[in-house]
Amino acid sequence: MNIYDTNYVEQLFDEMSRTYEVVNYLSSFGFTTRWRRQFVRTTQIKPGATVCDLMCGMGECWSALAPSLTLHDHVIALDMSQGMLAGAERRRAKFPHLNIQLFKQDILENTLPDACADNVICGFGLKTFTDAQREILAAEIKRLLKPRGTFAMIEISVPNGWLFKDLYLFYLKHLIPIIGRLLLGNPENYRMLGVYTEQFGDCRSMMNALARQGLQVEYHQYFYGCATGVSGVKP
Ligand SMILES: C[S@@+](CC[C@H](N)C(=O)[O-])C[C@H]1O[C@@H](n2cnc3c(N)ncnc32)[C@H](O)[C@@H]1O
Repeated sequence: MNIYDTNYVEQLFDEMSRTYEVVNYLSSFGFTTRWRRQFVRTTQIKPGATVCDLMCGMGECWSALAPSLTLHDHVIALDMSQGMLAGAERRRAKFPHLNIQLFKQDILENTLPDACADNVICGFGLKTFTDAQREILAAEIKRLLKPRGTFAMIEISVPNGWLFKDLYLFYLKHLIPIIGRLLLGNPENYRMLGVYTEQFGDCRSMMNALARQGLQVEYHQYFYGCATGVSGVKP
């Protein structure tokens, strides 16, 4: 079984879509909501912008995004999981002032036009890619951005200190699945998120892939490295 196979990841999120949002919120003690606000602030979103929300899930980042946008501003939201997009469709109704377009596509093979975005954001959508896939993702982000366009992304990460690291990984791999089970999700799916995170490490490989594309990059740490992020500009 290849856990980085697109079909496998798509099915994983389709299955998790019934419980993802509430498990994600409760198991992070609300931290993910705060982190979404913080990472979106690391990119300069100006009124009138077209923002591309990659791996948008159920649109969990839109509340963080909305204060920066004005009437009819355009959000291009892309995800490959039908289950997650069904949730995004429901959430879209809460943002009637925004023009949110949903695309069911694999980002690695997407058909969005070149230079369609002033800003690209991505919340917690990096861990299910291999390093090689993240190189393609970095090239896609460069292609989608207009010149001087900006980007910001964040992902759950493995902190540095050994004690904190072991405790956090134990929490991700053993306790979150129990929370998932209590909320009627499949615990094995939630255990997989911990497995992906352990393999992922932190956002440095994504940052390096973006830098290799010639983008200016800046690295961010959230709560002692429990999440990390990268933001920057296309020169
Ligand atoms: C952990 S969820 C994050 C959702 C949301 N952005 C958030 O802030 O919570 C990761 C999402 O990435 C999507 N995803 C993973 N690989 C993808 C790919 N190759 N193309 C498009 N979406 C992908 C999954 O379907 C899932 O909805």
